[in-house]
Amino acid sequence: MSETITKVPDTTIVLKKSEIRNLDVFELESVSLNANDWLSAGQSEYRLYAYLSTCFNDSVILDVGTRVGGSALALSYNENNRVISYDLVEQGASKIVKDNIEFKIQDFREDETLNYDEISIIMIDVDPHDGVQEVEMMEFLNDKGWKGIILLDDIGPAWPEVQDMWDAIEDPTIDVTEVGHMSGTGLVNFGSKHTVGWE
Ligand SMILES: C[S@@+](CC[C@H](N)C(=O)[O-])C[C@H]1O[C@@H](n2cnc3c(N)ncnc32)[C@H](O)[C@@H]1O
Repeated sequence: MSETITKVPDTTIVLKKSEIRNLDVFELESVSLNANDWLSAGQSEYRLYAYLSTCFNDSVILDVGTRVGGSALALSYNENNRVISYDLVEQGASKIVKDNIEFKIQDFREDETLNYDEISIIMIDVDPHDGVQEVEMMEFLNDKGWKGIILLDDIGPAWPEVQDMWDAIEDPTIDVTEVGHMSGTGLVNFGSKHTVGWE
């Protein structure tokens, strides 16, 4: 029997700040390799990522830049989705065992197993923080015809080249730092697929 692929539907996403701040992520924090990274919303981006995972079901979420797996864990909050986390080097995250996370050592652009119709969110947090790879990745996604939510880390003034890249994005963007990472978190409604607002 052939597997049915569900295309991610166009969605209205309302970022409810109080729900993001109050989200209980203790179970994820307790299996993380660095519990010190799990600060409150506005300091750490993980509650926001976890919340956004609840806006989609039966989809695939890409976590680009694993390091020790914090963002992968946050994005895995809604277990109806499957998270694939990519890094170029293994830094310990493979020790984390969670049924809806798969860790891969490769650039996602070389992963020929992906079906882009299934992908709802792509989180990009890659070194070096010079804004170069992010642009190349977004051009790749545009060439694929992919539309969806892109999350970008470190878009604030501490990383001026990333900030310049962020400022140059032509798709609709929301600076979600208020409930994200203190170094700056950006949400791109890539391809204007969804309706996104604050509350
Ligand atoms: C700031 S860390 C990611 C932190 C992680 N998202 C977290 O929540 O802790 C950036 C990572 O990007 C990885 N990286 C750099 N280029 C990459 C690429 N093309 N694809 C995947 N990972 C990459 C680096 O090896 C590094 O581990």
